[in-house]
Amino acid sequence: MIEPKKLLRNIARAPSNTENRLGKVMRLDHNERTTPLPQAVLDAVWKTISPEEVVAYPALENLYCKLAGSLNVPRECLLLTYGSDTGIRMVFDTYLNEGDEVVMLDPGYGMFPVYTDMFGGKRVFVKYDADFGLPVARIIEKINSQTKLVILANPNHTGTAMSEADICSVIQVAAAHNALVLVDEAYHYFYAGTMIDHLPAYDNLVIVRTMSKAFGIAPLRVGYLLSQPVNINNLIKVKLTYDVTTLSAKFAEYLIDHPEICQEHVRDVNEGKAYLAQEFALLGAHVFPSVTNFVFVRLPEACDAAALVRALEARAIWIKGPFKGVPVDGYIRITVGPRAQMAILMKNVKELIGKNT
Ligand SMILES: Cc1ncc(COP(=O)(O)O)c(C=O)c1O
Repeated sequence: MIEPKKLLRNIARAPSNTENRLGKVMRLDHNERTTPLPQAVLDAVWKTISPEEVVAYPALENLYCKLAGSLNVPRECLLLTYGSDTGIRMVFDTYLNEGDEVVMLDPGYGMFPVYTDMFGGKRVFVKYDADFGLPVARIIEKINSQTKLVILANPNHTGTAMSEADICSVIQVAAAHNALVLVDEAYHYFYAGTMIDHLPAYDNLVIVRTMSKAFGIAPLRVGYLLSQPVNINNLIKVKLTYDVTTLSAKFAEYLIDHPEICQEHVRDVNEGKAYLAQEFALLGAHVFPSVTNFVFVRLPEACDAAALVRALEARAIWIKGPFKGVPVDGYIRITVGPRAQMAILMKNVKELIGKNT
């Protein structure tokens, strides 16, 4: 075997586990949109694609202008990426030198530590309190002259969000140490807060977003980075020659032109969340409040969470957990869909918990 480069030797990648789900299971395990887009949307997008567009390399300027316009940011502050995951990787590729420290929350998006290893950085984790609290002082105290990157998912992996003021404090401390702050707004539109308005003030701020979550097109891989033009021009240096495809761009454009599709989905998810909180409370379970499209749920002591997850899987309903580690120890995670879909989930949960207890 030819040895891979040294930095890759200790990297193990977990399989993404997205096979065997389509049309067969209720997908409540990956924080995607849990219901299909209407066929009429697919038909309408298809009509906008010309035969020439499926043979020519992608031309994305229409999407750039539409997206920049809808976000109210200058075109040159925007860089489309092949999903936000690629955008995150590009930030590491552009800025990280071997030995640089990367401050990140634990738990967090699984690829943050992987990219840290891949690009030779040092992982510096900030832990939550057991009650899901995250004092900003704890993040700030990890920032020093070795820090190159601070990553804040907002909302974060527990479904909670930091205030703009707290994020600004982190950005200012990072700036004093010549470090970049990457704010991952993957769950934006479920949560209205954003750091976009702060882009002109901070040259060490990069925001990453995705159309995989509230817009619901995870398989089409459309993400984007937002930052001051000087940073975007550096990030472009590590860009793949072509990444976002013409077909994906057509869907993205359609969804930007029809914001009611995203808005309706966000409304459905909010109704589903309220319903789950109420129904789980009746069972004596605790749903941790979330500003995203997923919720962490702690079942009553007498219930075996692992057995419930397995039993739901046997009934073709896939959720995640139980998790280990503070603050999600023992919690299960459910991606939230419309109330009617959550009612099917709860009917099954009640039957199974009845059997378990
Ligand atoms: C916080 C966060 N960031 C980024 C991503 C990557 O999303 P995508 O690559 O589909 O844009 C995810 C996916 O679950 C996520 O939870």
